[in-house]
Amino acid sequence: MYPLPPLPYAEDALRPVINVETMRTHHGKHHARYVRTTNELLGEQSELRPLEDVIGTASEADDRKLFNNAAQAWNHAFFWQSMTPVAAPLAGALREAITRDYGTLGSLRDLFVAEGAAQFGSGWVWLVASKGKVEVVSSHDADQPWRGVAMPLLVCDVWEHAYYLDYKNERDRFLRAWFDNLANWSFAAQQYAAALGGGVGYRYPLPTRSAHATARAGR
Ligand code: FE2
Repeated sequence: MYPLPPLPYAEDALRPVINVETMRTHHGKHHARYVRTTNELLGEQSELRPLEDVIGTASEADDRKLFNNAAQAWNHAFFWQSMTPVAAPLAGALREAITRDYGTLGSLRDLFVAEGAAQFGSGWVWLVASKGKVEVVSSHDADQPWRGVAMPLLVCDVWEHAYYLDYKNERDRFLRAWFDNLANWSFAAQQYAAALGGGVGYRYPLPTRSAHATARAGR
């Protein structure tokens, strides 16, 4: 059984950029449902198999229902890590790469906001690293356009459930507030270091054995 990763901060910690009701619904209802559905679809097959493997094989097999739920479980876990209530300044190799490729963080912010605001329908806007270069990409629904070709550094959820209670239809205002106040540059720097060093970066928490399997193993 895949766990629902707990929020890495209190549900009121991101106020006023994201308010408690949004956090509670987003994590406790939306994210929880993706995790629950993934577990239901896999049954005992979920045991001890990293979620990243499930996403990869579901994509190859074009099993859209499993892919959508497993990837949404992953994307949301990564999204919570992409935010911090305590500002972590951009530093080190990632800062050098952004300065080299975009001049200023403000220029990258404008591109990120424009990409996220232009995403038609539901999706995500990502900051990724590919061959040391930092890029902004967006994706529809649960898709992970960087998988196999780049390392994700940060992501912002642009499904309406992420911002509608706080910002109504003003997705661009949400994106600006998100980038300026919540973006977790410390986490992004860790991901970037993993990309440069050939590491795997963030991994979803491993599944635990279901009560049924534990009882069966103990027979
Ligand atoms: Fe979401």
